[in-house]
Amino acid sequence: MNHILLLFAHPALEKSRVNRRLARAVKKLRGVTFNDLYEQYPEFDVDVAREQELLVTHDIIVMQHPFYWYSTPPIVKQWEDLVLEHGWAYGTNGDKLRGKKMLTAITTGGGEDAYRRDGHNGHTVNELLAPISQTAKLCGMDYLPPFVAYGTHGMKKDTIREHQEDYRRVIEALRDGNLDFDAAREHSHLNADLDAIIRKGSD
Ligand SMILES: Cc1cc2nc3c(=O)[nH]c(=O)nc-3n(C[C@H](O)[C@H](O)[C@H](O)COP(=O)(O)O)c2cc1C
Repeated sequence: MNHILLLFAHPALEKSRVNRRLARAVKKLRGVTFNDLYEQYPEFDVDVAREQELLVTHDIIVMQHPFYWYSTPPIVKQWEDLVLEHGWAYGTNGDKLRGKKMLTAITTGGGEDAYRRDGHNGHTVNELLAPISQTAKLCGMDYLPPFVAYGTHGMKKDTIREHQEDYRRVIEALRDGNLDFDAAREHSHLNADLDAIIRKGSD
């Protein structure tokens, strides 16, 4: 069984419709450690030793947050700047994250059509996530296509429920080693076609 560290970042959880429900679907699953960064560090005083210890004791790192200004909420940047130290995460002898898997799970106000080169936002989500994916790669991690819940504005409860179910399937498949990574890499986002990437009979 893989151990999953879920780094969760939402600066206004009381207003959240989607991330709150996505988190609820997976936070108590066996093998999942839920680490709510805003709850843990309301003053942004990230405990580097605690976070590094969590990272080394887990196999798969999931970073879940709403997409804010084509990026992460600020605590994720603070966390990266402090926790991913030279000589620990990268650089000379910086190999503590090497070989771990990394997944970004985001929700976007914009719909999928808006995240095309010829769409409203002029870039794909994967292009915009380059700082995250490249950071993971620099640290020797295996970065997966992201889990994306597009179009959260006015998203119906039924659609949120479907995303909850998909997210639970993804997290369980990652935990149980039932996700076909080669097949996953053929998709722009992980939840584009879950039946094609989760091994049959495993859920
Ligand atoms: C400060 C701020 C910045 C945002 N920036 C973006 C953005 O760049 N792209 C986008 O698609 N949605 C953007 N949104 C919309 C959020 O992504 C959306 O409200 C969120 O994913 C909904 O999830 P929640 O119900 O868990 O809050 C932004 C929202 C806020 C409050």
